Amino acid sequence: SHGLVLDSLQRPLRDLRISVTDRCNFRCSYCMPREVFDSRYQFLPHEALLSFEEISRLARQFALLGVRKLRLTGGEPLLRKHLENLVGQLAELRSPDGQPLDITLTTNGSLLARKAQALRDAGLRRVTVSLDALDDGVFQRMNDVGFPVADVLHGIDTALATGLGPIKVNMVVKRGVNDHQVVPMARHMREHYGPLVTLRFIEFMDVGATNRWQLDEVLPSAELLTRLSAHWSLQPLPASAPGETAQRWAYADGRGEIGLISSVSQAFCGDCNRARLSTEGKLYLCLFASRGYDLRQLLREGAADAALAERIQAIWQGRNDRYSELRALNSTDSEAERRVEMHYIGG
Ligand code: GTP
Ligand code: 5AD
Ligand code: SF4
Ligand code: SF4
Repeated sequence: SHGLVLDSLQRPLRDLRISVTDRCNFRCSYCMPREVFDSRYQFLPHEALLSFEEISRLARQFALLGVRKLRLTGGEPLLRKHLENLVGQLAELRSPDGQPLDITLTTNGSLLARKAQALRDAGLRRVTVSLDALDDGVFQRMNDVGFPVADVLHGIDTALATGLGPIKVNMVVKRGVNDHQVVPMARHMREHYGPLVTLRFIEFMDVGATNRWQLDEVLPSAELLTRLSAHWSLQPLPASAPGETAQRWAYADGRGEIGLISSVSQAFCGDCNRARLSTEGKLYLCLFASRGYDLRQLLREGAADAALAERIQAIWQGRNDRYSELRALNSTDSEAERRVEMHYIGG
């Protein structure tokens, strides 16, 4: 008796993003600024984390309710020990029509070269790698731990060689910080990888409460497209799935495509089909939500599968979140509630 479940704005539940750790070995200023996430910061204790068995059990219920894509995030998901074991469990899940789920991973790439083969063997089929600059000085300042570009590129190369491609590369663009890297990044990715890598530019977002977001540091996608168009001829592509985050553009010469993720300048809440499961098992209905729904307690009290599915269904049916649209209409009260941090529910 499961099936398609719709929220109060008639949006289906298709995509579950699972945070497997709240820790990260980078300190990107837009996500985990060093002043806040220092040696005194209390990360979650091990027993607070959902176990792989708990995650898989929840994911199975989500699949029954219509979820087709699982994305593992963090923090940095590859910091979670033996993550390939979780991938193996998730790869066994099926949607009601018998199809395997689309399982993917968002990583900063630092441990990717080491983990690619084990992940691929466990059933992972693709990855998304974050990289904010091609220039080492700029990138090392942005990750704030001095991590070199070459090691991320090596992670990408290894993942491609392992069969984890085509790969998406996510670049968060901050005006005045790395916007001069937009064209060099585009050039590098198209010349070295062509259609094997899709570079996606993400507008710097006001997630969480610690990243000192300012509108003047956002480079709107329209402006970014103008800059790229001075170098290459680009043609719009249709969305590859409903509710997709990125607008796709193809290079007219066939050397691949780029994506524009414009959550600030052009909100895409209208068909948002994404739910987020935090490291400690809370369900968040929006990237900008200020509260989540505790599923871990239900699990640990011994709830049956049917009860879990019913609870998730009821939560989704009550959903009316559309934060980015409301921000664009200037009707959010951003000071009123403390929003959840990105490193804790993933991107
Ligand atoms: P695929 O294209 O299938 O790989 O998935 P995706 O586009 O969801 O990929 P990804 O997780 O790489 O998302 C890219 C970025 O878009 C995230 O890191 C966020 O910055 C942003 N993003 C993703 N989902 C949302 C969302 O629901 N709302 C907002 N405002 N931003 C989002
Ligand atoms: N704005 C936009 N994107 C962000 N990410 C993290 N914080 C922000 C933010 N404030 C992105 C990262 C990565 C994914 C995990 O989320 O770059 O691609
Ligand atoms: Fe870590 Fe990714 Fe956040 Fe950077 S954006 S601090 S790599 S989780
Ligand atoms: Fe979905 Fe919230 Fe992002 Fe809008 S702001 S697209 S509702 S996660």
